[in-house]
Amino acid sequence: MRKDEKLTQPKDLLQVIRNKFCHVEECPFSGKRIFFENAGGSLTLKTVAKSSGDLAAIPDNQGRNNRASREVKDLIQKSKTDALEFFNTEKGSILIGESGTELLFRLIRSAILASEKGTVVGSTLEHPASRSATTKWSKYASKYLTLIPHCKEYGSINVQQYLDGISSDVGVATIIHTSPVTGISIQIRELTQGIKEISPDCFIIVDGIQHAPHGEINISDYPIDGYVISPYKVFSRHGYGLAWISDRLRNLPHETLLNGPAENWELGTRDVGSYATFSEVVSYFEWLGSQVSTSLTRREKFVDASRFIKNQERKLVETMLYGKDNVKGLSYYPKINIIGGIENKFREGLVSFAFPELSSDFLVEELNSKGIRTHVRKSDHYSSNILEPLNLESCVRVSMCHYNSEDEVIHFLVSMSEIMQQSNLK
Ligand SMILES: Cc1ncc(COP(=O)(O)O)c(C=O)c1O
Repeated sequence: MRKDEKLTQPKDLLQVIRNKFCHVEECPFSGKRIFFENAGGSLTLKTVAKSSGDLAAIPDNQGRNNRASREVKDLIQKSKTDALEFFNTEKGSILIGESGTELLFRLIRSAILASEKGTVVGSTLEHPASRSATTKWSKYASKYLTLIPHCKEYGSINVQQYLDGISSDVGVATIIHTSPVTGISIQIRELTQGIKEISPDCFIIVDGIQHAPHGEINISDYPIDGYVISPYKVFSRHGYGLAWISDRLRNLPHETLLNGPAENWELGTRDVGSYATFSEVVSYFEWLGSQVSTSLTRREKFVDASRFIKNQERKLVETMLYGKDNVKGLSYYPKINIIGGIENKFREGLVSFAFPELSSDFLVEELNSKGIRTHVRKSDHYSSNILEPLNLESCVRVSMCHYNSEDEVIHFLVSMSEIMQQSNLK
């Protein structure tokens, strides 16, 4: 038995997990539903909703000589320490901003404007948040921007191909950890270490927004300067983004108050609820780790939680692709186009697909009417970088998380089969 396999793992662990989240089976607006729209925003932890509400009622601000003010300050400090531990680094700083997009813009802009090198490298896999920022600021700073093409069949970046685009003149490189359209992650350790070997001064900024709910973030292994996540995609609530920045990036010129602390990147009065809710997310990962292993340290618990999440999601994806017993999986349909290919070991809980003879809008609506929430991704400014090379106008995105159940996947597959039969497509 491996050290991480707890002898007394509760049989009903999935139910215990589900009980920790809000609106697992019911939408307060539309009623009973299965939630497969996690890439649009994960379910929210009950502790997050509670702590957010409680703190919204507190009028006090930091920096006053009273008990409430000190509590607020401590909550903010605790959250920053929690986030550093969660990212597995003792260096750098945690920064809360308006959204993931806003933080990516700020980090990328600062790096491009400060870098003394002439080239910026990104990839066609990236979300428009980073692609727009690199396009705008490399033009403004008269730098050359290269976008490494992703592999359209595989739905991700080939590490060697990206590294072939790196030279010692590259001052800023942007990377997406996992695509929210293909669901395929990149080998971030190999890629970031490879970039640094060729261009040691390069600032590397990572968009970890789609990857974060799948766990396993280890910044001490990635020689990077920025890692951005959106907590609403990792069990917290809407309204803020969160970034880790290296000391080197923090010391670059940035907006700050005249005569205020120079290293401060956070602008204005803080929303203590955002910090406190992120601490709840970190506690959840720690709790989950303690349920699935006998590990003692917090770090080990995060790692064990991530391993559990990965296994759980792998099982859900397998059922979705290959079915179970007499229920057909998606790969059964001969004309289906599964983005990133059917077999892809870097898939993270998300399956996007299209049929030549059925519109994705129709499928999403039909699934919705059967109580299954999925999402259509169109070839617009968000997803055309992935869909256009595949000659697709749209796709259906089914995004799962570790709290989804096999029964929910089976229900989805049975509904798909009914829709296909009604449409005379088997
Ligand atoms: C990979 C990725 N990057 C960036 C964003 C934008 O994040 P936000 O909504 O926090 O601005 C998203 C949102 O879906 C995303 O999936």
